[in-house]
Amino acid sequence: IQMLLLPSPLMEVYVPEMPVVALHGGDVTLNCSFSVATPFNLSDLTVFWQLTDTKRSVHGYREGHDQLVDQAESFANRTSLFPAQLGLGNTSLLLSRVVVADEGSYTCFVRVQDYGSAALLLQVAASYSKPVVTLEPESNLRPGDAVALTCVAYGGYPQADVIWQDGGGRNLTDNITTSLVANEKGLFSMTSVLTVVLEPNSTYSCRLINPLLGEEGYASVTITGQNIAFPPVALWVTIGLAVCLLVLLIALAAVCRRKIKESCEEARREGKRGWKRRGGVEGKKEGERRL
Ligand SMILES: *[C@@H]1O[C@H](CO)[C@@H](O)[C@H](O)[C@H]1NC(C)=O
Ligand SMILES: *[C@@H]1O[C@H](CO)[C@@H](O)[C@H](O)[C@H]1NC(C)=O
Ligand SMILES: *[C@@H]1O[C@H](CO)[C@@H](O)[C@H](O)[C@H]1NC(C)=O
Ligand SMILES: *[C@@H]1O[C@H](CO)[C@@H](O)[C@H](O)[C@H]1NC(C)=O
Ligand SMILES: *[C@@H]1O[C@H](CO)[C@@H](O)[C@H](O)[C@H]1NC(C)=O
Ligand SMILES: *[C@@H]1O[C@H](CO)[C@@H](O)[C@H](O)[C@H]1NC(C)=O
Repeated sequence: IQMLLLPSPLMEVYVPEMPVVALHGGDVTLNCSFSVATPFNLSDLTVFWQLTDTKRSVHGYREGHDQLVDQAESFANRTSLFPAQLGLGNTSLLLSRVVVADEGSYTCFVRVQDYGSAALLLQVAASYSKPVVTLEPESNLRPGDAVALTCVAYGGYPQADVIWQDGGGRNLTDNITTSLVANEKGLFSMTSVLTVVLEPNSTYSCRLINPLLGEEGYASVTITGQNIAFPPVALWVTIGLAVCLLVLLIALAAVCRRKIKESCEEARREGKRGWKRRGGVEGKKEGERRL
């Protein structure tokens, strides 16, 4: 009796079993098809695409026309069926300009005389930018210092896996902090910070994997003597410059002394001459003044 009260779906509706992956900003076709034994009149066909969870309307078709009055606003101007294919039992939906918020389960309802439905899962993916690794602080490093290595990649979806490795290809799992920030489009910026105790001549690499796209980004940083030797080099340059300056000053002083001595002697000679000629006091004064 219950079987008679609940109308049982008699029509087979086919959708992909695996989640459909769409690229952010791209177009995607959500496949849906049905099989009917006898040819039918299109005006007898009803198609509804809706969000499985909220039952909000994504796209409707009835009596030979699209029915978009109750369409959720977020799908406006982004959906279409394939009209020429409807008569062949193809009720697939073309969704354009995919955004992260489109992710979720979609149900395809079909009715001719009988009806049926099936749900599929849409996943959205976006490629991350190539990761970049930076070192903080960048200079004045001494062996034994703690340094933060920061690996950043942005504009991707969904969350990526981050693997840090040392130069020997060993996985590093300690002292890593990974954070995720979404922008207004729902795309992520991923920042992973690895804190290590500095050893000279060491390499660290950051590998970022988008699990949905199977895409992998890679960046590495090698801490060479250059980063570490910087303070001693600076010190020696400073000392070197100071020594040069000192030598220069001494040389200058020597030259000056000689010059002063010379001019003194000259003045004395002139003074003596002046004393004889002009009778003394004035000439001597002039000599002193020139000193
Ligand atoms: C959707 O259908 C088309 C044509 O039938 C096929 O080429 C494509 O692989 C299908 N996509 C999925 C995700 O099943
Ligand atoms: C389809 O149905 C419409 C309306 O019921 C009718 O006018 C039309 O002639 C039918 N077409 C065919 C091919 O049966
Ligand atoms: C959809 O397109 C129509 C006509 O091109 C336009 O008036 C309307 O604003 C668009 N709606 C959205 C949500 O973009
Ligand atoms: C490092 O970790 C990744 C993912 O967790 C794993 O696939 C890989 O085998 C590990 N490599 C080593 C050398 O442990
Ligand atoms: C992690 O950090 C702690 C404290 O900063 C340090 O003692 C420890 O050696 C670090 N672990 C690794 C594997 O570097
Ligand atoms: C640094 O590593 C390179 C290659 O691993 C090696 O050739 C070089 O001798 C190392 N330098 C020091 C100072 O350890």
